[in-house]
Amino acid sequence: MPNSTPKTMGQQFGRRSWAEPWKIKMVEPLNVISREEREKALIEAGFNTFLLRSEDVYIDLLTDSGTGAMSDRQWAGMMMGDEAYAGSRNFYHLESAVQNIYGYKHIVPTHQGRGAEHLISQAVIKKGQIVPGNMYFTTTRLHQELAGGTFYDVIIDEAHDPANMHPFKGNIDLDKVQALIDKHGAGNIAYISVAGTVNMAGGQPVSMANIKALRALCDKHGIKIYLDATRMMENAYFIQDREEGYANKSIAEILKEFCSYTDAAWMSAKKDNLVNIGGWLAVNDWTLFEELRNLVVVYEGLHTYGGLAGRDLEALAIGIEESVKDEHIRSRIGQVLYLGELLTNWNIPIVQPVGGHAIFLDAKAFYPHLKQIEFPAQTLAAELYLDSGIRSMERGIASAGRDPKTGDHYYPKLELTRLTIPRRVYTQAHMDVVAESVKAVYDARESTRGLKMVYEPKYLRFFQARFERL
Ligand code: F0G
Repeated sequence: MPNSTPKTMGQQFGRRSWAEPWKIKMVEPLNVISREEREKALIEAGFNTFLLRSEDVYIDLLTDSGTGAMSDRQWAGMMMGDEAYAGSRNFYHLESAVQNIYGYKHIVPTHQGRGAEHLISQAVIKKGQIVPGNMYFTTTRLHQELAGGTFYDVIIDEAHDPANMHPFKGNIDLDKVQALIDKHGAGNIAYISVAGTVNMAGGQPVSMANIKALRALCDKHGIKIYLDATRMMENAYFIQDREEGYANKSIAEILKEFCSYTDAAWMSAKKDNLVNIGGWLAVNDWTLFEELRNLVVVYEGLHTYGGLAGRDLEALAIGIEESVKDEHIRSRIGQVLYLGELLTNWNIPIVQPVGGHAIFLDAKAFYPHLKQIEFPAQTLAAELYLDSGIRSMERGIASAGRDPKTGDHYYPKLELTRLTIPRRVYTQAHMDVVAESVKAVYDARESTRGLKMVYEPKYLRFFQARFERL
């Protein structure tokens, strides 16, 4: 199975067209400023796309987080917010949506994903424990570290190679997990942190066979599996598309089966769940639920609102129901594949196979003349903005941060610039414009200079760091 060519890749070159399962009811005009104005804006932003004003951006591919378009049903739901402090009916709607669609028993809402990561990390990680996971995510690992844990990457080696065509590059390497059990003892493993899809690997999926095998290994040693379900709908799509035995199963069936092999999940609902703000925790174990429900009142809000308004909870409940529909996921990922196909046809180096939420440009291959400490991916994000006003995000050495023990930079194998596609927001014509801009920047690659970091915040530095041209 792992060596077969993903069907999705074949479809990139010979598929029937898909179309969005919706039409547009309201539009938001876009703003384009001149190249001179962009140059000025970029310098003011310290060459960090997070520090640009959104008004100075033309096509915003910074993130797919909180940037999706809500449906008319979700907007109608906003008017049905029950803004009671306690026991809002919208909470019960959310609770049953998560129970029905993801299959977990107990739900705690949070203001967004990192709120959920904070609570679960504080609740279950004991100081000195280790947390194996399929590649780090910035906020996830930080909360694990702040709770006294140490993250260990147990993703398969193929994930670190942008050109490797493995269909499930998010898979966990069970030998790496076994080696950690042998070395540290099962009792020193807080839990296995599984993300589907894996953001930092390029939106790469985990196979059903892999999570099943991990479950069996963990059962043998009494270890829990906690799922970062942020883009799990998209993971389910890749299982349907690529894994034997799942072609005729619905996204809903695949999602529920996958979740059934895990003990709990946290969610950034700003992605898959089609809302602008929100998150949740979902667990099966009552004792853990009680602990989380207690912690949420300290950091987020009462356990029936978790930092969200009733109207947000309602939009989220409806978003969950919409997000699990097969035709939604097909067109969502179809748009990402479309952009990937254009760039692949022009031989532009991107992470292959194309993942679920974004195109990841391989900045090391773009700029082989730049050292990693000259921030090739940050440079590429800056150059793209200069060329066309398209905003992307660095996912390389700046995002990786520093080892808290030694203070040294982490030097991740992957040095990527992410073009993240918001859900239900841009059209195919926008994707054409994006591809052409990437090509222009690629054609000018040899004369591009790198950056140096001139300001570095302590936590999650990529958000606020400042750079200057070398
Ligand atoms: N887990 C994953 C896999 C994520 O991608 C994110 C956020 C989080 C957790 C944290 O959730 O933002 O709601 O607090 N990712 C965003 C991104 C920021 O752009 O990829 P949050």
